[in-house]
Amino acid sequence: MNRHGGIRETGVLDYSVNINPLGMPGWMKEEILQLVEEANTYPPILAEIATQALSEHIQEPLKRLLLGNGATELLYLFARSIGPGRVLIVEPTFNEYRRAFGVAGWEVYAFLRGRDTWTLDVEELIDYLEKVPMDLVILCEPNNPTSTMTDSHSLEVLLTFCKEHDTQLFLDESFLDFTRQGLPAHSPGVVRLRSMTKFYSIAGLRLGYVLADEELVHKMIRFKEPWSVNTFAQGILPRLLDDEQYRRKSLAVIDEQRAFLYQGLQELGLPGPQPRSNFLFFRCEKEGFHQEMHKRGFYLRSCEDFYSLDDKYFRLCVRTEKDNRALLQAMKEVLR
Ligand SMILES: Cc1ncc(COP(=O)(O)O)c(C=O)c1O
Repeated sequence: MNRHGGIRETGVLDYSVNINPLGMPGWMKEEILQLVEEANTYPPILAEIATQALSEHIQEPLKRLLLGNGATELLYLFARSIGPGRVLIVEPTFNEYRRAFGVAGWEVYAFLRGRDTWTLDVEELIDYLEKVPMDLVILCEPNNPTSTMTDSHSLEVLLTFCKEHDTQLFLDESFLDFTRQGLPAHSPGVVRLRSMTKFYSIAGLRLGYVLADEELVHKMIRFKEPWSVNTFAQGILPRLLDDEQYRRKSLAVIDEQRAFLYQGLQELGLPGPQPRSNFLFFRCEKEGFHQEMHKRGFYLRSCEDFYSLDDKYFRLCVRTEKDNRALLQAMKEVLR
């Protein structure tokens, strides 16, 4: 199980969780207090009203959508609703895929990204799939922890290959909201997993959804526990989707601070790929770097538990300018 849910330590800035630095939208506390009145009864079993709002917002038919208690619930649900079979995970990536498919009895294979750019070489992946056919390919876009994305042409090529070879493509788009690439429409045969917990800073409330073929959503519903999305999460969803102001402000802060941090890392000589999401990935050879930063009040995510990585790889999230300036200053001192 992924033990990295962040830390709560007085005087320490948590750079290890990839959550929107603005915190949840300002109206949310009031809204949640109002929803307490409704919490003494069961919410709609499959979050039907909230799903309708989502369907209208992203303009996809209701039957292609399934809401869950965060993306994680839906990942595990998906893994046990179909198969088992052979799944290929493009690594290094979010640890929970390996666990979700492993416990559901799948044969899990790994395909590594190139270490120079940390992007996926789709030609190489297709060569591999031709030799070792798979039932399912898992790709995280943008990828955790590398913050890289596959270009749209390569994705199209992969999609076409998968369709022609009866391989299902599972795209985890949980961090796509942090980029300025709009949310893609449904493509037949593709499963898209999206989290709302990160962008709206509601990791404790939890919301996520799957966009997939109707038949697959139907299969997942057969395996799903009832009422997994609570009254509060269902209640706030329509307003979250409509909050354009929060969305714009978040993207503006994240764009600016991501560029600021990336430049700072480069000036410190810490190599890493151009980040696309709300977090940055880099390598630091300095012995004791993580501990020294922690002592100075900054908790970074070291990546030794990611497949094929070690404790010299780090991920840090984008926070506010004040925090980020202090972080870079502390890094400078530790690396001196
Ligand atoms: C790539 C990726 N997908 C999904 C999740 C889970 O999201 P949620 O909190 O909505 O369950 C995470 C959490 O870190 C993640 O990194």
